[in-house]
Amino acid sequence: MKTPCFLQIDHGDPAAWRAELIHALCAETASIAPKHFYDALGARLFSAITELPEYYPTRTEAAIFARHGEAIAAAAAGMGGASTWVDLGAGNCEKAARLFALFGVQRYVAVDISVDYLAHALEHLQRRHPAMDLIGIGMDFSRRLVLPAQSGDGPRLIFYAGSSIGNFDPAESLRLLLQMHQAAQGGALLIGVDLAKPADILESAYDDSLGVTAAFNRNLLLHVNRLLGSDFRLDDWRHVAFFNRTASRIEMHLEANRESTVRWTGGERRFAKGQRIHTENSYKWRVADFAELLAQAGFTGTRHWTDEREWFAVFLASARRATAREPNS
Ligand code: AVI
Repeated sequence: MKTPCFLQIDHGDPAAWRAELIHALCAETASIAPKHFYDALGARLFSAITELPEYYPTRTEAAIFARHGEAIAAAAAGMGGASTWVDLGAGNCEKAARLFALFGVQRYVAVDISVDYLAHALEHLQRRHPAMDLIGIGMDFSRRLVLPAQSGDGPRLIFYAGSSIGNFDPAESLRLLLQMHQAAQGGALLIGVDLAKPADILESAYDDSLGVTAAFNRNLLLHVNRLLGSDFRLDDWRHVAFFNRTASRIEMHLEANRESTVRWTGGERRFAKGQRIHTENSYKWRVADFAELLAQAGFTGTRHWTDEREWFAVFLASARRATAREPNS
């Protein structure tokens, strides 16, 4: 049996994170970067969100793969196959693992912010797939996506599921897609994208009746308190989520219930009652606009599959490099 290989590339710089957090908290419109949602409790709360009746993206994407998996795998094979998969934000690796047999995956590269998140999942996967090459990479790919040589030198299929691309604005998404195109080395991209739909459906997906998304959002303050040594009090903040139609995005905020001053070593910020901290955007795309973004990033031959309600789409696009032109005769 082979053994997984692990590489931690980004080591995170607590001083830089702290400076970045303070800068964002002190800006006129305060914000906290959504990457801070995912401490141990935040990761569990997100996993609970994916099971909520109102939060449709995870189960809708899974239904698209269940229904169209064979067609998607055949189309991927026609784009050069890519038996090497690179799973961005792999987490417990389960989404990709369900597709291994269908796509004939031989080498699986799981990328997440820390290899610690991947160790258990990859060791478990290796027992189920003893002959597969499994590589875990700890990297903040949202900053810079450059894969190490261990990720294989042939074409790769970049797998970015769950509509996480929606947490980047269109300009950042384009930058990320350009890097994915490069990282695919002539292979392909398989990406899940949440689509625009009526505001009431979106708003209840991000403000569920059990209050799990509210807990996920407010837990951010507990995490920031640990990172900064700040004194945010949970009772002072409520969860707000709404669809911003102009920008086609769900916005999540934390709104002050009363006037409060938050202190940390070396600084403080006063918040008036009703003032907000912007915590997340989740962009909802139209199929044609996302296809256009893929084309701008250099992808070709784009195909997509959706569910019956057209709430979610899985896009497959080729990163094949253009062959040299025939010389003029
Ligand atoms: C991770 N990401 C795709 C989720 C989303 O739907 O934007 C994060 C999330 N925030 C609140 N609920 C889920």
